Amino acid sequence: MDRLTDEKIISDVKENNELVTVISEYVNLKQRGKTFMGLCPFHSEKTPSFTVSREKQLFHCFGCGAGGDVLTFVMRMENLTFGPALRFLAERAGIPLPEVQLSPNMQKRKAERERLYQLNAFAADYYRKVLWGTQTGEKAAAYLETRGISRAAAEKFRLGYAPPQWAALVGLFRKKEIALGEAEKAGLVCGGGEGFYDRFRDRLLFPITNARGQIVGFGGRLLGDGQPKYLNSPETAVFQKGDSLYGLFQAREGIRRRERVIVMEGYMDVIQAHQQGLDEVVASLGTALTTEQVKLLKRYTDQVYIAYDADAAGEAATIRGLDLLAAVGVNVRVVRLPSGEDPDSLLKKEGVEAFQRFVDESVDLFTFKLAYILEQEEIATPDGKARAVQRVFPILSQVKNQIMREAYLKQTATAVGVSETTIYDEWRIYSYNSRKNKQRLDIKNNQRHTNDITYQQQPGILPAEKNLLQLERQLLRGCLQEKDFFTRIKQALKEIKFSAPLYTELLHQLVEWDVSGEWPPPATAFPPETRALYIELLTENTMNPLPVDVEGCLKRLEQHQIAEEIRRLQREVAVSLDLQASAPTPALDLQNKLALLNKLHKKLREDFPTFSGLR
Ligand code: CTP
Ligand code: MN
Repeated sequence: MDRLTDEKIISDVKENNELVTVISEYVNLKQRGKTFMGLCPFHSEKTPSFTVSREKQLFHCFGCGAGGDVLTFVMRMENLTFGPALRFLAERAGIPLPEVQLSPNMQKRKAERERLYQLNAFAADYYRKVLWGTQTGEKAAAYLETRGISRAAAEKFRLGYAPPQWAALVGLFRKKEIALGEAEKAGLVCGGGEGFYDRFRDRLLFPITNARGQIVGFGGRLLGDGQPKYLNSPETAVFQKGDSLYGLFQAREGIRRRERVIVMEGYMDVIQAHQQGLDEVVASLGTALTTEQVKLLKRYTDQVYIAYDADAAGEAATIRGLDLLAAVGVNVRVVRLPSGEDPDSLLKKEGVEAFQRFVDESVDLFTFKLAYILEQEEIATPDGKARAVQRVFPILSQVKNQIMREAYLKQTATAVGVSETTIYDEWRIYSYNSRKNKQRLDIKNNQRHTNDITYQQQPGILPAEKNLLQLERQLLRGCLQEKDFFTRIKQALKEIKFSAPLYTELLHQLVEWDVSGEWPPPATAFPPETRALYIELLTENTMNPLPVDVEGCLKRLEQHQIAEEIRRLQREVAVSLDLQASAPTPALDLQNKLALLNKLHKKLREDFPTFSGLR
């Protein structure tokens, strides 16, 4: 692709992928005047700071600084480099692209994945036909009827039936001249060599799709009792059990509309729920929520209801999954079902209104955990009361909001049956002790790091690494705001260096750009490695047009650098002192270093009166 067509294709792709629409496929956006707001998909947050401008076709997060256009968004969201992101969006908009860009290796892997989707779709189609169109399928259709699943609901989830024969699908693949080795990679057939046979036999089949609706694997249920009740696809290049959420493709609309998701355990739960109009329901496929599933959920909503079978809800693994959700800032509520019921059975017996009542009575995560502890401890006895309270405290210490913590303390007091003053006293002792333990740990860690430095440092002078990067980023933004800023920063940075290689690279490229021309340069002036960063910075400037305090930033950057130099020298001095102790050597080197150190200290104190650290 030469540059010109490159340009043309990029602008074509952008014009045909409206930003708000594209982002809405991942983030729940709400309109606020001219912009759209939502929870940033690139960092954890509880209040929305992620903004999208339809007018400017740009997004920006005021929390983490991520920003850019539709291409940058897809790059970050789908974890793609520039070329594949362009291709992704071109495909989405139906724009033909010349075959280039993908490395041969990636092309091969992509083709393999596509092939697996194809084979899965082919198999699903076959199984669906067996279910609805053959005599063999009748008993499966009858089974669905006994489970109270309508044909429409079954079709919505593309259910099928694998006939009892050992080589039904194998035979079909042979007839169609599809290589059985490929079908094996898809997990559809087993055996190998001459002995290929169907993986799924005499089972009701539930195709499992990804969020785009492509079939990644299958779950298969026996029509009666027996073991194993469910047989799933093995792990393949497109299927890892913990990565998928069953029903997400069908639930995407519902989740957005109702601004919440209900997570259940199994296939049947999901289908029954959708059939009864609860279309914001997905299933975690019988396991506790994984990090992947949590990330996936958070893209769609920050309001998650967990409706697991009564027995599974209290399990440690389940609770860890819920903690994962809470940790990314999702609001978790637990629906408690009567023991012995799962959503499917309850919905079938008592209908959607009854189920809705249980949803209305759902509890927050703290209340849920408290109840769980109370069930296990004998809180009628003084001993049990004390133990229960001590088990609640670690949970409470995770609650950062004081008001909520106070409310929970009261709740605990009432539930356990102790007075509020007693529980406050106990809490104070507990948090005092855990603070002290933490301090002890901190000191120990600090000593480990500073043991080799003779000059002890005081805390507070060296801002954290994160601040340094923010500073450097500000300066880069400044470069793009005005040519004069750029000239000033360029000159100063001959002496001061950026710590992030990517930032340095972008700066070099800016320096190389012909300053007599357009400023800031067009994004296409930059190679893919720096282009995303460049666009991000431009966006930040558009959304936050206040001029950068260039002089202030440069000064603080210098301060950083001097402090860093002092640290380095201190280490060298310490080594020199050690050497002297063991074998007296000419002290000239050491004296030089000490002199330099003094000079730097002095400079730091003069230049930065606020400077208080480093003796
Ligand atoms: N599961 C699985 N493999 C198993 C058992 C369970 O993958 N051997 C998953 C399935 O997704 C299943 C879910 O865990 O739907 C819940 O399991 P379970 O409660 O045993 O099944 P139900 O969904 O209740 O199925 P049914 O009502 O048909 O008995
Ligand atoms: Mn169940």
